[in-house]
Amino acid sequence: MLFQKSAQSMIALLGFLVAVASAQAADPKLANVTILATGGTIAGTGATSTTTVGYTAATVGIQTLIQAVPEMTRIANVSGEQVFQIASENMSNEHWLTLAKRVNTLLAQKDVHGIVITHGTDTLEETAFFLNLVVKSKKPVVLVGSMRPSSAISADGPVNLYNAVALAATPDAAGRGVLVAMNDQIHAGRDVSKSNTTMVDTFRTPELGMLGYFQGGKPFFYRQVTRKHTTETEFDISSLNVLPPVDVAYAYANVGPTAIDAFVNAGVKGLVHAGVGNGSLPAKVRPALSAARAKGVVVVRASRVGQGILARNGEANDDELDFVVADTLSAQKARILLMLALTKTNDTKEIQRMFYTY
Ligand code: DGL
Repeated sequence: MLFQKSAQSMIALLGFLVAVASAQAADPKLANVTILATGGTIAGTGATSTTTVGYTAATVGIQTLIQAVPEMTRIANVSGEQVFQIASENMSNEHWLTLAKRVNTLLAQKDVHGIVITHGTDTLEETAFFLNLVVKSKKPVVLVGSMRPSSAISADGPVNLYNAVALAATPDAAGRGVLVAMNDQIHAGRDVSKSNTTMVDTFRTPELGMLGYFQGGKPFFYRQVTRKHTTETEFDISSLNVLPPVDVAYAYANVGPTAIDAFVNAGVKGLVHAGVGNGSLPAKVRPALSAARAKGVVVVRASRVGQGILARNGEANDDELDFVVADTLSAQKARILLMLALTKTNDTKEIQRMFYTY
């Protein structure tokens, strides 16, 4: 036990010395990039080098992740902060508020040129969209994860991390909204989603398309996002400690009102219905959603499908029901925009404007 403690304190001292050394070795010709570590598989370890499922996420600290990719010191002055150490299925509204406030504080500093956030892939798309709406800087913010743990043969984390730092250090990445760097691709935080349970090419923007590629560790852009983000948004979380409770009710054959009624009884302020097809409302569900609306819950019609515009007054008379439609946002991302919208207003016309703006 004593040996273990002294080994741990030696590792901590080493990490500190590395951090100090890297700070002193800053090259004024290179951009200063801060890596905020939250956990996930990129920080995960498995029992063997061929373990790519059944590993433990969120075990490796940020200094170790940085030391594993020394090439990064050639393209940026890199520093790291361990903000959380969690598997991202456990990401919460409170984690998001803490992370966003730290990002905004750092980006307000002249000596921080870009930020990388290492993150589990399960909710990476959600954190990216949340930050896309609340980061108040044009400087690059890049989320990155991995599908294989750091201990695996051909782990994808190191190259993904290198690419993410290269992107965050690139002036051309500024003003493009929060970005996701995975598998040699650049995606927009608003439109990307995880599409496969375990494959390294899981992050896709199937119809609206990714923004660009990495080649040889260099980013190349081919598209711009069209919706407002970061400094153009009306949302300010600087004084918020909680977000309005909003949940998602999922539709499928034979679904009834149980989940919707439970959410309403639990006191949600907003409810996203992940409908079938073009957001269709099953007959057993419609009365429960109308009753929710009558109690002041803001209802957003989304789809479980994953792609396409959810048309207002298409599969339901939204004008009559006083519902909002999610446009092209997935149900999980519609929940994020609805939470932030409810920090500003309960007016459904205003909220619908927000869904057509961001
Ligand atoms: N538990 C999952 C998470 O932290 C592992 C998946 C990953 O990070 O790739 O999101």
